Amino acid sequence: MKIGVYPGSFDPFTIGHLDVLRNAAGLFDTVYIAVLNNNAKSPVFSMEERLSMIDRMIDAEGLSNVRSGAFSGLLVDYAKQIGAQYIIRGLRAITDFDYEFQIDAVNRHLDPEIHTVYFMASPAHSFLSSSNVREIGGMGGSIEGLVPQCNYQYIRERLARQK
Ligand code: PNS
Repeated sequence: MKIGVYPGSFDPFTIGHLDVLRNAAGLFDTVYIAVLNNNAKSPVFSMEERLSMIDRMIDAEGLSNVRSGAFSGLLVDYAKQIGAQYIIRGLRAITDFDYEFQIDAVNRHLDPEIHTVYFMASPAHSFLSSSNVREIGGMGGSIEGLVPQCNYQYIRERLARQK
């Protein structure tokens, strides 16, 4: 059984994350989306909101081998707890590489048996990030097509209220 864990802040989960997730769901028997519970990062969307949007998206996309959960502490400990042998990450551009290289080095040091698999983002999503979505939505710009359609209305209204 090949199990992968797809970690992130997902504040909020974007269409770029969905692209990576679809690829991972096709490769692994089970994929756990692991939402980082770290208040130091001061997320805009609460853990409850992020998980319920992710669950709605899993249902809407029919991703029957994908689960979601929150984690705090070390990612490799969470991976071991759920039986994941692989960490899944997306790469958009060369600028992501440095950050991912560092995370990988730390995780390898902590647990050399857990490997990270990377999916290149589609070029159409290379500019897309959760922080772009928050900024565009918060300033009244259109975020349609940047987040999963089933969550678009909720995110749009929620970010507009932030203004
Ligand atoms: O969405 P992000 O912020 O790029 O995700 C970063 C994440 C969650 C993968 C990273 O911060 C993480 O794994 N945090 C958990 C703490 C940990 O394991 N640290 C050691 C590796 S940096």
